[in-house]
Amino acid sequence: MRFTSALMNVGRAVRIGMIPADGIGREVLPVAERVMTAAPGAPKFDFVHLDAGFELFQVTGTSLPQETIDTLKNSCDGALFGSVSSPSHKVEGYSSPIVRLRKELNLYANIRPVTGPVVTDLPAQYQKHVDMVTIRENTECLYIKQETQEDSPNGKIARATRQITEHASTRIGRKAFEVALVRKAMREQEGNKAPTKVTICHKSNVLSVTDGLFRTSVRSVFEADKKKNGGPGRYEGIELDEQLVDSMVYRMYREPNVFDVIVAPNLYGDIISDGAAALVGSLGLVASVNASDTFFMGEPVHGSAPDIVGENRANPIAAIRSAALMLEYMGYTDPAMAIYKAVDRVLLQGKTLTPDLPGGKATTAEVEEAVLRELLR
Ligand code: NAI
Ligand code: MG
Repeated sequence: MRFTSALMNVGRAVRIGMIPADGIGREVLPVAERVMTAAPGAPKFDFVHLDAGFELFQVTGTSLPQETIDTLKNSCDGALFGSVSSPSHKVEGYSSPIVRLRKELNLYANIRPVTGPVVTDLPAQYQKHVDMVTIRENTECLYIKQETQEDSPNGKIARATRQITEHASTRIGRKAFEVALVRKAMREQEGNKAPTKVTICHKSNVLSVTDGLFRTSVRSVFEADKKKNGGPGRYEGIELDEQLVDSMVYRMYREPNVFDVIVAPNLYGDIISDGAAALVGSLGLVASVNASDTFFMGEPVHGSAPDIVGENRANPIAAIRSAALMLEYMGYTDPAMAIYKAVDRVLLQGKTLTPDLPGGKATTAEVEEAVLRELLR
């Protein structure tokens, strides 16, 4: 058992809000739905299909209908989000539905594991075992989107406000240590002697006020635990260290095996976890879950991939793993583990891979078939 929640044994179908949104989100979420339904030990699901996205905005003027928010808040036990085609330029009246959903549902942590088996065409010396998880703060940093622009004699000046609070940094620090505790327990169970470590990612040598506050807030979670318990704290046996974000990127490619749990402010966490995806071969493999203390929304790390949409070649594994992550955090450990193992077997066999992976020629549908076959083996 990893995470438990009050949702266990509710005695009715488990309601999952499905929000495919745009692009390949619409291709991979139905696959995740079928895999969840087929997983051994899964509860009975009631999938509720909900609208959101840039295409919806273009038709209706809203990217996130109130009905979607209300349904998620009032009657769903969990949710799965696909991907949204947010434009790179400002569009009057548009804001990203995923950023808003995280706020509305208080999903303050984005948990992004990147785990082998390593399927990559990087040179052999870089092909080391990867088993890291980024705990990305989801509510503040530069993503509060307070941007201004003004004219000056030398041209335009644009500014963005970056907000780091003690409250949000402490809360994300606590989440990181809780995730580390679970990883430590799992390793002990498996007889795995690898140390459990939390690394704070920051740049407080330059941004000593904002990143400084993030760093000291996370550290104080660790220190307070030691003090409160007057001896070995709950986090006893977990190592704490830190790394500047730029050198972290370098190190992540040279020695990815040195990282375990990484806790980062919003923007660094976004960049680091997309970068980490390259270590295992493709963004199409990497899952995440957005978490509050009681609600979990799975979300593949990739975007809407407009370059491959409609070609039946989107890798559905990130979405499948995101569904499993959501189930795991909701307390449905058995079906979650069954899904992880089925996916790992398909990757290890290497016979049914989509073209984003070295040598891959399979379609989305063929990967789904292979995962279902392994799941029901
Ligand atoms: P992207 O993740 O959509 O694509 C980057 C590259 O990875 C593309 O070559 C794409 O084909 C490939 N790729 C991504 N997922 C894949 C999968 N499952 N299978 C196979 N190949 C896959 O990122 P990009 O191109 O920067 O952004 C495209 C759109 O997605 C933009 O509108 C952006 O705003 C949006 N986006 C949305 C996110 C979300 O919904 N949470 C996150 C990131 C980007
Ligand atoms: Mg990203």
